[in-house]
Amino acid sequence: MEVLKRVDKQEELKKEVMELAKQIEQDDLKVVTFMEYTTPPEKIKPKVIKFEKVLPLLEKIAELGKIEKGVAKIMFYSPSTARNRGLTPTMMAGFQLLKPGASTKPHSHNMASIYFVFKGKGYSVIGNERIEWKAGDVFVVPANDIHYHVNTGDEDSILFDVTDSGLIESLGILEFRE
Ligand SMILES: [Fe+2]
Repeated sequence: MEVLKRVDKQEELKKEVMELAKQIEQDDLKVVTFMEYTTPPEKIKPKVIKFEKVLPLLEKIAELGKIEKGVAKIMFYSPSTARNRGLTPTMMAGFQLLKPGASTKPHSHNMASIYFVFKGKGYSVIGNERIEWKAGDVFVVPANDIHYHVNTGDEDSILFDVTDSGLIESLGILEFRE
């Protein structure tokens, strides 16, 4: 069997059956007559995110300190992932900058994260563990563990993280707790 090419023929067909389909449809409910006649989701495009353009944004957000004092967090997503808001349909990624002495608020979420320490040094409290880190290290924050990060160095710390938030969001069960 070959994989069917998905082509959107809904509009063509709907002219014939629109009235009957409308009897079923609601604000939050649409009728699809055959799956192979729907447009497939857009494919994620290869891309590069240039750090030299990321850094000024992180520095500005940390300097403004409007969300957390001395902390900046930015994440990236592809609009083609729609509600999943991922950089791919299953994963999101982002950077976090902590000024010297800054600490993030303890919180938890049901997505898991893998962190790469891009710059600086500090520690994270994850569940009952305290993990010391420095540039080049990788650490893991399991889903639902309460965690926070602290910069103990005398320069900015920068963390890069990848999470499975897209996957959890696609199931409609992503939650954050503070
Ligand atoms: Fe977190």
